[in-house]
Amino acid sequence: METVSVDIAERVNAALEQILSDNYPPRLWDAMRYSVFAGGKRLRPRLTLAACSGLGGDMETAMPFACAVELIHTYSLIHDDLPDMDDDDLRRGKPTCHIIYGSAMAILAGDALLNLAYEVMSDACAVHPGNIGAMSAIARAAGARGMVAGQAADMLSENKTVDESELIYIHANKTAALIRSCLEAGGVLGRADERRRAYLSEIGENLGRAFQIRDDLLDVTRSTEEMGKPAMSDIKNNKSTYVSVFGLERAKEDCRALTRRAVGLIEELQLKDSALLRLASSSCFNPR
Ligand code: IPE
Ligand code: IPE
Ligand code: MG
Ligand code: MG
Ligand code: MG
Repeated sequence: METVSVDIAERVNAALEQILSDNYPPRLWDAMRYSVFAGGKRLRPRLTLAACSGLGGDMETAMPFACAVELIHTYSLIHDDLPDMDDDDLRRGKPTCHIIYGSAMAILAGDALLNLAYEVMSDACAVHPGNIGAMSAIARAAGARGMVAGQAADMLSENKTVDESELIYIHANKTAALIRSCLEAGGVLGRADERRRAYLSEIGENLGRAFQIRDDLLDVTRSTEEMGKPAMSDIKNNKSTYVSVFGLERAKEDCRALTRRAVGLIEELQLKDSALLRLASSSCFNPR
């Protein structure tokens, strides 16, 4: 059995290199590769692999799904940064995809990454049909009942005040849905029983919401340099965020409470390695 360790990001990157080895038309593939290899944390692949390895599952079998989630996540970032969405010019410490390649190529690079994710997952399911549930979990989370719905609600929340339940809806869908699906996919790949799958789903929901609250906090507390993306972007767009609705202190408290709940559930699962617990305890889910 393998554990998720520091070289996981490198293994994910090597697998992504293979997936992104085509090159025609070169400008499209350059734009796709530019954003994928700009230097993300690879948090979602790590979560997928950690859930799987904690259950004693096989990392190689899980890798295509881990990569697919990163492709979907990267597409969502490219589109999120577009002028008609958050209109940001820096991502992962580099000029955003549309700044380098123009909006048309950035939209198409996003489209291509999204579709490539399903190609990779369906190829993997052709080899191991028992893993189709992992693809379904990711597909449900990424689309119009998950991330895309959340992004739509987020855009519609600009320039107005939303209530608590609408804000939680936005966070649960634009961010937590995909993060939860990583844990759910890991559960399918690691052959978790029903009880453990329900736990993983709840862990993902809590971590995903904590992650977006922390992201809202970072927007107002960190510099552009530290984040590799523009500080005060939410303020610029007059977004409804956890900070604008509840204030800094409550945002920190709620983030910590959600992460604590996730950590408690992970401990109850008594997994075979500590990878998931280490991720949940990392700075990604814990505000200073
Ligand atoms: C940023 O996600 C987008 C949100 C959902 C808040 P990450 O902070 O995981 O971005 P990368 O992948 O490390 O660039
Ligand atoms: C984005 O939320 C969530 C996505 C699905 C991309 P944000 O708009 O807050 O993410 P950042 O701050 O630009 O990374
Ligand atoms: Mg956004
Ligand atoms: Mg944004
Ligand atoms: Mg943000």
